[in-house]
Amino acid sequence: MGKQLRIDSVLRPEVLIIGAGGAGLRCAAEICERRPGTRIIAVTKVYSPQKSHTSTAQGGMAAVDPKDPVDRVIYHMFDTWKGSDCSADQNIIKKVCETGWEQVVWLERHGMHFSRTEAGRIAKRPFGGHMLNFGEVKAFRACYEADRTGKGIMDTVWAESLRHGVVFLGQSVATELLFSHGRCVGAIVFVEPSGKFIAILAQATVMATGGKTRMYQVSTNCRQNTGDGLALILQAGLPVMDLEAVQFHPTGIVGPGILASEALRGEGGVLLNKDGERFMERYAPTAKDLAPRDLVSRCIMTEIREGRGCIHPDHNMPHVWLDLRHLPKYVHRTKIQEVTSFFRKFVGVDPETELCPVVPTAHYQMGGAPTNEFGEVQKSPEEIVPGLFACGEFAAASLHGHNRLGTNSLLELITMGKVVGERVVSYLADAEAPGDVPEEAGQHVFSQFSNCLERKGHQRYARIRDRLRVLMMEKVGVFRSEKPLTEAIDELRELKRMASRMELSSKSLVMNQELLQFWELDHLLDISMVIAQSALARKESRGAHYREDYPERKPEFDFHTLAYMTEFGKVDFAKRPIDMSIYKARGKNYKKFGMIERKY
Ligand code: FUM
Repeated sequence: MGKQLRIDSVLRPEVLIIGAGGAGLRCAAEICERRPGTRIIAVTKVYSPQKSHTSTAQGGMAAVDPKDPVDRVIYHMFDTWKGSDCSADQNIIKKVCETGWEQVVWLERHGMHFSRTEAGRIAKRPFGGHMLNFGEVKAFRACYEADRTGKGIMDTVWAESLRHGVVFLGQSVATELLFSHGRCVGAIVFVEPSGKFIAILAQATVMATGGKTRMYQVSTNCRQNTGDGLALILQAGLPVMDLEAVQFHPTGIVGPGILASEALRGEGGVLLNKDGERFMERYAPTAKDLAPRDLVSRCIMTEIREGRGCIHPDHNMPHVWLDLRHLPKYVHRTKIQEVTSFFRKFVGVDPETELCPVVPTAHYQMGGAPTNEFGEVQKSPEEIVPGLFACGEFAAASLHGHNRLGTNSLLELITMGKVVGERVVSYLADAEAPGDVPEEAGQHVFSQFSNCLERKGHQRYARIRDRLRVLMMEKVGVFRSEKPLTEAIDELRELKRMASRMELSSKSLVMNQELLQFWELDHLLDISMVIAQSALARKESRGAHYREDYPERKPEFDFHTLAYMTEFGKVDFAKRPIDMSIYKARGKNYKKFGMIERKY
């Protein structure tokens, strides 16, 4: 080994939070409110928590206002179940939907500026798949702060964390989870500015590293969403769940795929094909442009495949149009001003007078680290890992099953962040101290980093990354089937071989972006392999996982996919049952929570 890698120092907070976005910091705030003085270190890959991906969330957070004259929590629960294509867990649906409004109030009382109606009440807008009376007509349920809802949330939870003395470690990445006698006791963290490894030993470790769709060519995710946290879970021999369920948001700005919020359609925008037809009326006669995302994305891709899309001259990419020209100037200028400015900036289009080019973009991972309803990470459906918790997009509890409704992610990260905070506090009451740094600590990360530092060859990082992105888009994208999936798995093996022949131009550990990119590429390849193999194994269509060779949902796949991968490419599967507790309780409306037909 050329460079002697070692743990340079040891820190001992009570709680380690990996990932300082909305979920991680809502959890931190809850811990501090319930147990003032708790020593918390929050590690973030970015320079400041304000750069977390949560900040880019635009359209809103779903929650039913108890004073709403027409909306009811049961409708929200039903929509979430139906939206998930009957594969979300009903205990989580109930818990999250029932506590949503309380969390809107919590945010508001801690300083968030929700947009308001003329009458002074928190304003709400419609979003895809959210409906009244069990699917009859659109609901106004998404609370928002103009088109910067995520930024409002981050300002609030970050301020709360600072107020309570949470210590932040920026530009730092967790590189290995630490265990002692089966308990998680913290992690080894690599601090980029110093190039040093720190062992952070804690009674409780919370993982909240967010999304992971940067392996797709067109993606709304920011550059840090490379699946590092989930790769750590796999390396520890733990399972990941439902990774085949990748959400494509229907309206990414053509080219980079930057999010063009569903709020644009919520405010009245409509999708058009190249002939100017409102094609969603054909596919979803009731919900139309506000059908759930999986459906709208497939409809757009079908229009494109059947020759009714356009080609963007600058990006040479197919797309359809989003028409916002008819919206009142007031809406353009006060409710959607930031997102429409993106069209001006990135594609030179003025949404007040011109059509906007949009295409489906990889947006969200419904799956993640499996947890129970308290956010405790599971080793198997029957067993948890003591001391290890997860929340936000990183985790799969699962509120979303195989398809998430828009605005249910901000809802989930806030409600489950709080739930995990609560659980951590009760865990701390009699948690054992983590003890010494475990003997085998560093084995994995030092061999991984040494490997990156010592690789020789002429393969280029950018070439492998770009091939990965195109391959995932084309073969593991909106439409899937056996042959392309099998080809994708073979190609991923080849890319992994190629990646072992990339050579660093600098072997420095300090602020070496190239070194970090090599490390991230390993994770992108690992997670892509699990997505592709899980998609191949699920021989049915469910939510965002659509198999052209198996276009129907099948009862024999009424379970969550658990996948383990300790060696690249060797994926072992297990099953976790779907929680049907609302159905089984046989209360009023229970039949709505059976394996229902999904039509919009
Ligand atoms: O369309 C949007 O504003 C995205 C919202 C979400 O993903 O929940």
